[in-house]
Amino acid sequence: MIKKILVTGGTGYIGSHSLVDLIEKGFEVISIDNCSRSFETSLDGVKQITGNSVKNYKIDLCDLEAVKAVFEEHKDITGIIHFAAYKSVPESIEKPLMYFRNNIESLTNILQCTEDYNIDYFVFSSSCSVYGEPQSLPVTEDTPVQEAQCAYARTKQMGEQMLQDIAQASKTKFIALRYFNPVGAHETAVIGEKSIDKPNNLVPIITETALGIREKMTVFGTDWKSRDGSCVRDYIHVCDIAEAHTMALKYLIKNTEAPNFDIINLGTGNGVSVLEAIVAFEEVSGKKLNYDLGPKREGDVGLIYSNCRKAKETFGWEAQRDIKVMMKSAWDWQLNQN
Ligand code: WQD
Repeated sequence: MIKKILVTGGTGYIGSHSLVDLIEKGFEVISIDNCSRSFETSLDGVKQITGNSVKNYKIDLCDLEAVKAVFEEHKDITGIIHFAAYKSVPESIEKPLMYFRNNIESLTNILQCTEDYNIDYFVFSSSCSVYGEPQSLPVTEDTPVQEAQCAYARTKQMGEQMLQDIAQASKTKFIALRYFNPVGAHETAVIGEKSIDKPNNLVPIITETALGIREKMTVFGTDWKSRDGSCVRDYIHVCDIAEAHTMALKYLIKNTEAPNFDIINLGTGNGVSVLEAIVAFEEVSGKKLNYDLGPKREGDVGLIYSNCRKAKETFGWEAQRDIKVMMKSAWDWQLNQN
């Protein structure tokens, strides 16, 4: 029997890539996304890749009655992948209350429906930002989380704690997937990272600078304790992230013995500095990037990268794509948009 999955945030960056992989792996999918931070046209790209038209309910997840109506219409939803959330580090420092209201109220509503409609499986989009400034590297799922560096990270810490408490009293199986830095785009370049307003994230800023949309970019901080002084992150291809969600769902469906709640890192295990990411981009694009060296950005963690052995041991997942594939796909996506 084909299993129906509700993807919240399905018109977004990771959500649209997850829809593609779920469809290709035989799931039926629907989306809820108010498109406040994304474009519904990304579903045209999903259709171009898979041949499937995905129904998106353009409602606000903070509107419980509207969310319930979707579950009334689709009594056969087996699982939920909850991506929908605001996710900008700098913006969350500027507007913490907006982040708490949006990210926590929407999560509470979707969890209410998970309970009311007896949904079997729930995959939560969490983030490496829950670790704060890690005391040891690489971080495993057992690395103690530190004080959140911004409201965005705090909403992810709170989300995980909500799931953990709810899971104790529920038959639903929950998994929180802690992404490191999702970058890149689908190999067809018909879907990718596209934000409503100017991007804050490194890779779209690199590709916009390379294309001349931005005159230059700034490397934030050059005296971190890294090989070259610039910030280190564990960049991970968005398609690796998407595939991990499908594998996590299939693992929950197959393993009745799976714990009611678990946390899994999704990274490559490789720390790449900003300057190294720029070099990788220049190599694959043949473009020379115009950048200068500037002060650290508020809220930034200096170095973080993952130990993701648990994903391999739990549901057989490991990242397949390296930093050059990530940068090449991001560049192809930027070129295709323009
Ligand atoms: C990466 C690095 C910057 C822009 C992201 C997501 C967040 C979460 C974690 C998933 C940092 C540096 C950036 C620029 C720069 N992902 N940088 N110049 O802050 O790690 O957070 O990953 O949940 O949702 O936002 O990503 O791309 O903003 O920054 O030097 O113009 O690039 O200092 O070290 P970040 P980012």
